[in-house]
Amino acid sequence: MKPLGVALIGHRFMGRAHSHALKDLPLFFDLEAPPAMRVLCGRSPDVADVAARFGWERWENDWRKVVADPEVDVVAVGTPGALHRDMAVAAAEAGKHVFCEKPLAATVAQAQDMHAAVEKAGVKGAVNFNYRRAPAIMLAKQLVDEGRLGDILHFKGFYQQDWALGDALPHIWRMDADMVGPGPAEAGSHVVDLARLLVGEITEVAAADVTFVKQRRLPEDAARTAPVTTDDLAVFITRFEGGALGTFEATRCIAGRRNALSLELNGTKGSLRFELERMNELDVYFADDPSHLQGFRNVLVTESVHPYIEAWWPPGHIIGWEHTFLHAYYEFFQAIAHDRPTAPSFYDGLRCQQVIEAAGTAAAERRWVEI
Ligand SMILES: NC(=O)c1ccc[n+]([C@@H]2O[C@H](COP(=O)([O-])OP(=O)(O)OC[C@H]3O[C@@H](n4cnc5c(N)ncnc54)[C@H](O)[C@@H]3O)[C@@H](O)[C@H]2O)c1
Repeated sequence: MKPLGVALIGHRFMGRAHSHALKDLPLFFDLEAPPAMRVLCGRSPDVADVAARFGWERWENDWRKVVADPEVDVVAVGTPGALHRDMAVAAAEAGKHVFCEKPLAATVAQAQDMHAAVEKAGVKGAVNFNYRRAPAIMLAKQLVDEGRLGDILHFKGFYQQDWALGDALPHIWRMDADMVGPGPAEAGSHVVDLARLLVGEITEVAAADVTFVKQRRLPEDAARTAPVTTDDLAVFITRFEGGALGTFEATRCIAGRRNALSLELNGTKGSLRFELERMNELDVYFADDPSHLQGFRNVLVTESVHPYIEAWWPPGHIIGWEHTFLHAYYEFFQAIAHDRPTAPSFYDGLRCQQVIEAAGTAAAERRWVEI
């Protein structure tokens, strides 16, 4: 197969992470159709310099030109959530495969449009819930599927960061619910996706949330402020289809927690624990271990038998956060080459969005909300 021409919309944080992944992918993974980095799109004038530095052939300010570009087969969307819909729908209608950042959209209605558009066009749509692609998470999934934990009784998932603690930070798009969506969309969506992966569908949610800093100064004019309409902290509990319960926290205001995504999974035959800041490790406990040896064991997930590790380094040569993006892209390009379903798909993104929006409603109306 010839290379797949890629366009990336968004040239800041995710722009760098995606560019890095696309550049390194053919170095480590065998692909039927490797990516060709055609065009980087961003709003500000520095996109030309950034595109050259990140290794793109061309640059563009207008995303509509990018999605119509005949040399582009894949459109990657790395812009704020409320912008995803129009970009992804236009790309699908132009016959391009779409790799979209999380959360899939800012509302369920937008996510439905996106899911419908890729289905109608017969193109692949993937949402970048990249933490699924951490080898330790894939191992956790394998243990669940093998029945090593028995029936799952409980999921606990936290995403705790501290970048918005206090009032020093000016107002940015992440503090605007119109851009991000209602409910714990930004960080919460990653945890909800992992819960769906490991436990199954969520049927009901109850939630509470709080915004600690309600007004923030505008970056361009410190004398003026704008309201913060997103959560600083959301806690929610859920019921799963199989009968398990879930407890969740999503926050950007817990001092000392830089990028602390952590989860626990507890079943009738065992438990496991994962922490993103120690992402090469998985703690597992099996209730059928001999009683004199019972206890959590710490598995360093860097053996060649572990997911994706054969492509990387010898045992113990740990990998990092950015590698999850390579794994996500690898799965996406292989799904295109072999014409097989993508995962996580736009359907997964839509199901996640339903939980997030329901959590927002549950918090606002102080009640359980069915999904
Ligand atoms: N998977 C992850 O781990 C992860 C981490 C951070 C952010 N994200 C998600 O990635 C997305 C982008 O976040 P970010 O942190 O990169 O944001 P950012 O603010 O760093 O960058 C936003 C980019 O969007 C571009 N943009 C905005 N409006 C545009 C328009 N109309 N046309 C073209 N370009 C436009 C900007 O020029 C900029 O390059 C969000 O959906 C966010 O939730 C995912």
